[in-house]
Amino acid sequence: MTKQITSFSDYQKTYKDSVKNPEKFWAAQARTFTWRKKWDEVLSWDFETPDIQWYKGGQLNITENCLDRHLKRRGNQTALIWEPNDPSQPHKSYTYRELYEAVCQCANALKANGIKKGDRVCFYMPMVPELTIGVLACARIGAVHSVVFAGFSASALADRIKDSSCKMVICSDYNQRGAKNIPVKDVVDKAIAKKCKSVETVLVHQNTGGKVKMKKGRDKWWHDEVSRRRKNCDAVTMDAEDMLFILYTSGSTGKPKGVVHTCGGYMVYTCFTFKNVFQYQRGDVYWCTADIGWITGHSYIIYGPLLAGATTIMFEGVPTYPDAGRFWHVCEKHRVNQFYTAPTAIRALMAMGDHWPSHYDLSSLKTLGSVGEPINEEAWNWYDQHIGKGKAPIVDTWWQTETGGIMISPLPGMHALKPSYAMYPLPGVQPCLVTAEGKEIKTKEAEGLLCIKFPWPAMIRTTYGDHERCKQVYFSTFEGMYFTGDGARRDKDGSYRIIGRVDDVINVSGHRIGTAEVENAINEHDSVIESAVVGYPHEIKGQGIYAYIINDRGVDDVAAFKKEIHKVVTKVIGPIAKPDLIQVVSGLPKTRSGKIMRRILRKIASGQADSIGDVSTLLNPEVVKEIEDQQKLAK
Ligand code: WT7
Repeated sequence: MTKQITSFSDYQKTYKDSVKNPEKFWAAQARTFTWRKKWDEVLSWDFETPDIQWYKGGQLNITENCLDRHLKRRGNQTALIWEPNDPSQPHKSYTYRELYEAVCQCANALKANGIKKGDRVCFYMPMVPELTIGVLACARIGAVHSVVFAGFSASALADRIKDSSCKMVICSDYNQRGAKNIPVKDVVDKAIAKKCKSVETVLVHQNTGGKVKMKKGRDKWWHDEVSRRRKNCDAVTMDAEDMLFILYTSGSTGKPKGVVHTCGGYMVYTCFTFKNVFQYQRGDVYWCTADIGWITGHSYIIYGPLLAGATTIMFEGVPTYPDAGRFWHVCEKHRVNQFYTAPTAIRALMAMGDHWPSHYDLSSLKTLGSVGEPINEEAWNWYDQHIGKGKAPIVDTWWQTETGGIMISPLPGMHALKPSYAMYPLPGVQPCLVTAEGKEIKTKEAEGLLCIKFPWPAMIRTTYGDHERCKQVYFSTFEGMYFTGDGARRDKDGSYRIIGRVDDVINVSGHRIGTAEVENAINEHDSVIESAVVGYPHEIKGQGIYAYIINDRGVDDVAAFKKEIHKVVTKVIGPIAKPDLIQVVSGLPKTRSGKIMRRILRKIASGQADSIGDVSTLLNPEVVKEIEDQQKLAK
């Protein structure tokens, strides 16, 4: 079984060993899984190319480890609980055997529709069990899944389908979220119409039963295709370094990149981190509220928990529907032991009042998790007192789409916690802080740019179709290191506090949004000449989106203009990227070489205009004063 650390001294010893001899440590973790062929070499790496290979020569199938491996001892244990959007509807449960059979049926359906090892399959679906089933069905036959969050627009979906030339799209008819009914299939049709020539089949899961158009020859119903298939399907043998999935994420440039994860290392790492960070014990019920459209859902709703033989909950709804007690109701109903959510949800629920959690029995909670953005002390304390009742340690987990799994986190119950600190690197993780010049800061107490100087099994291998970009973004800034894009500080005791992004990425409600992407979208509006987008502190979302826009016609009614901007951004990216504040300006501060000085704009948006400093070297210094003076007109 995967090692489970039991005390702080155990952690210290394990950590030391893992750094002294990483290969020995990760080989021991890997041995606990089912391999069809053992690896020849635990690790071969080079951060310059980059070329990272874990368990080279090893062969496996991750679903054999998520499902088959558990059937003998745990076939009748609940693997997956699905809690619907509407609380008056019954929840659904799948035992490990039932999930195994459902995955096999779907895998057989994919095969019957021409999907083979290496083909890419795109998912654009709400949080329904068929999403988990479909993802695992791909992994079973060696197809590469690319899940796109169902809040993205048709145009964003089309870009992602095209970038990885997906052969199939799996979607639902509609998505019922809160009180909204979203026409998912219609968005898929619109996306494919944008020249997605690679798509041969669209598999449609009937979710609400609402009316949809089905294109003959291309569109097929899930219930026709999947239900009649055989309930077993041989798992395809995969090399440890074969691609498992692609997940798109935003960066500082306009185009989202497809982060690639591979089979062997991702499997070992997500299981190890799941068991240790959440201290999952046999029989516990674990709930992560993330959407499977993001990495948190991949690693800590599907793979990590199932690899560990856990019971994992999937929630279709939103925190405030039908009311702000929904999360706590679900915790009480399923006697949840580990609960994992984002600070933005905590802040939103905190703002609704303390009485909501007080109506529910939350005594089953043993560990609380936080992820996606820095958690402020006030939210941390509320989470601790009103949800954990001071008895459930909070694990503030720092990681990224690119890291595949949790990297820095407290270990619950093993040491004192510090609110707003992600604290200690997990075994095998070697973080460091560097100066802007790339020099490692060796003193214990320090602040700098967060890098990782040694490979870990679940790290990014490439960006799909563009290896050079992977090299540029993560491995070229500082020689011999993976650069995270985050700033952090370290205390005397070696404990880390994550400060936030240092690049042009905004973290809105725990979702990463590239400023360039939002600018490109805004610029599609007819009357926009140029725009600059920055983040600013937002009470609920952590960061909000602030857009400075130059408009060629002048704007009398900023509120009406904002609506138009929202429309175009929703169309190009999706509602998650809508600016919270818009300011119409006559110019943008630029360097003499024509680069927008976002640093200055960030200061103004954050109300820190006093500390802007000298602007005299700008091409147009006078514009700074004007933007400052007119900030009150932002809507
Ligand atoms: C960025 C990665 C990894 C799952 C969700 C987000 C920020 C993540 C924390 C944390 C402070 C955090 C970082 C990171 N972030 N977790 N516990 N404390 N910041 O994944 O979309 O890839 O974003 O989220 O800035 O770089 P992602």
